[in-house]
Amino acid sequence: MDEMFKKKHVVSMRDLTREDVEFILDRAERMMPYAKSGVRVLQNRILALLFFEPSTRTRLSFDSAMKRLGGSTLNLTSEESSVLKGETLADTIKVVEEYADAIVLRHPREGAARMASEISRIPIINGGDGAGHHPTQTLLDLYTIKKESHLDNLDIALLGDLKYGRTAHSLAYALNMFGANIALVAPEGLQMPKYIVNSLNSVRLAEDVDDVIHDVDVLYVTRIQKERFPDPNEYLRVAKSYRLTLSALDQVRENLIIMHPLPRVDEIAPEVDQTKYARYFEQAFYGIPVRMALLAILMNGAI
Ligand code: CP
Repeated sequence: MDEMFKKKHVVSMRDLTREDVEFILDRAERMMPYAKSGVRVLQNRILALLFFEPSTRTRLSFDSAMKRLGGSTLNLTSEESSVLKGETLADTIKVVEEYADAIVLRHPREGAARMASEISRIPIINGGDGAGHHPTQTLLDLYTIKKESHLDNLDIALLGDLKYGRTAHSLAYALNMFGANIALVAPEGLQMPKYIVNSLNSVRLAEDVDDVIHDVDVLYVTRIQKERFPDPNEYLRVAKSYRLTLSALDQVRENLIIMHPLPRVDEIAPEVDQTKYARYFEQAFYGIPVRMALLAILMNGAI
């Protein structure tokens, strides 16, 4: 493992230091020229993708990143696995660690990746655990902000389901690390958990995006996490409660960028995609160099 990066697993942004993050972002920048052409630094290495929840970006971009590095992948979903026969996650990890050199785990249960990291002798990368954390999304979010805006003295608003949205949780911790001024905008009942708000140094709360959009460099929009609501009526109460349209973009900062971890449902109108502010598809692409860099670091591939 690279001397600059001592962590074996990547479970939560809270486990990483600012130096760790800057190191990964620097390595991602070095990977950028190879994001399409590839660079074979992980030949004969195998990455297991254990996805017990749906995913397009995280699963495919890790798959693509590993193959761009000359390695290969094993794919397992809950529908195809012996989890359906009652096998535990712990047993699954103990078996897969014999078949692969690292594991990306997405799981509906918060804490699943932490548990896996405590029993696995190969690196565990958290690909999203319930409403908990999504650290590799945050790393690519930070990379996007650095490339398309700036990380120093950043004014940013996080809009949407901040209660269940794991991307917003991980990003809030990381932004705080970089001294960002963070506005949290959520519908009633979907506010960021208090223990996260209390850990942030420069934070303000708002209920309407119009109250903050003119004062930020980055607007980070998230969808309502329908699948996490214990009561479908609660979801219906907040569904469609916010939507970013062209009219909201009058008199925003010239350099505003709009981000979204995707998938989008209806919280950003499609016509916003054509504006100079939209960066969510670039953001999705940056998942490749960032995840290539992370895999190379964790699996000891020279960059
Ligand atoms: N952003 C993100 O995690 O997308 P997927 O759920 O498609 O992986």
